Amino acid sequence: MKKYFVIGNPISHSLSPKLHNYWIKKNNIKAEYLKKELTLIELGEFVNEIKQKKIAGANITVPFKKSIIPYLDKLSPDAEKTQSVNTITVEKNNLIGHNTDIFGFEQAFKKFNFSIEKKRVFILGAGGVVPSIILALNNMNTSKISVSNRTKEKALSLKDRFEKISVLNWGEIPEFDIIINATSLGLKNEIINLDLKNVGQNKIFYDVIYNPSETNFLNTGKKLGNLSENGKLMFIYQALASFELWHGIKPYIDEQTIELLNL
Ligand code: ATR
Repeated sequence: MKKYFVIGNPISHSLSPKLHNYWIKKNNIKAEYLKKELTLIELGEFVNEIKQKKIAGANITVPFKKSIIPYLDKLSPDAEKTQSVNTITVEKNNLIGHNTDIFGFEQAFKKFNFSIEKKRVFILGAGGVVPSIILALNNMNTSKISVSNRTKEKALSLKDRFEKISVLNWGEIPEFDIIINATSLGLKNEIINLDLKNVGQNKIFYDVIYNPSETNFLNTGKKLGNLSENGKLMFIYQALASFELWHGIKPYIDEQTIELLNL
């Protein structure tokens, strides 16, 4: 039986096994999908198991999306541009790194029916997922992207790859149509120390976090009269794209799929 893994640290919270095993069963595929917590020094060993065909493919999550790159033979153009890999496939004994987070983000916004074209977007955070979000936003023709991160240098280093973004000090709030929380604040119900009460109404508050389903950030946005969406659909669509890369089948997303991730 083919084995697939999601690796990260921590990993116990990951819902990828639940989702992939559901689709594997639905499509009568002989495979299983497991999770594994690793440390940085164990990455090489894990990659060797893929090379030896003991593992058929993998998803990579925080904090290894960049550190996995030196172990791979080739990157897809999106993985190259973002220097972020969340999926590994094996093609003719070569390990290929892909980035399906970009597709996940774009598809999620299409499903919400939010037109992002010409919109001003404000991103909080500059961690692993942010290059993928910026690339997706560029694909969707936003008019302006501002980024603010507690550690400003990290946001500034994004400018090497994405020249057009504006980098703001942490605490500075620009005018925006869509605000995205891409920090890890909210995973444990933390509050983001930003004063958002004067941002106006009818904006979109989007959180990459989907567990909990409503972070304090989304709750604040709602209370102020804005729309809010969590990262669940992005998560489902990045998984769908990985599934298709490995199995050549586009899994079906129904109510049950979405229910599966209700926590
Ligand atoms: P990494 O930074 O290793 O890529 P991540 O989970 O992808 O990890 O990103 C965490 C994000 O949450 C970062 O933008 C981080 O800001 P710093 O770069 O300043 O660390 C942000 N973050 C985490 N804790 C925070 C806090 N207490 N206040 C503000 N931002 C925070």
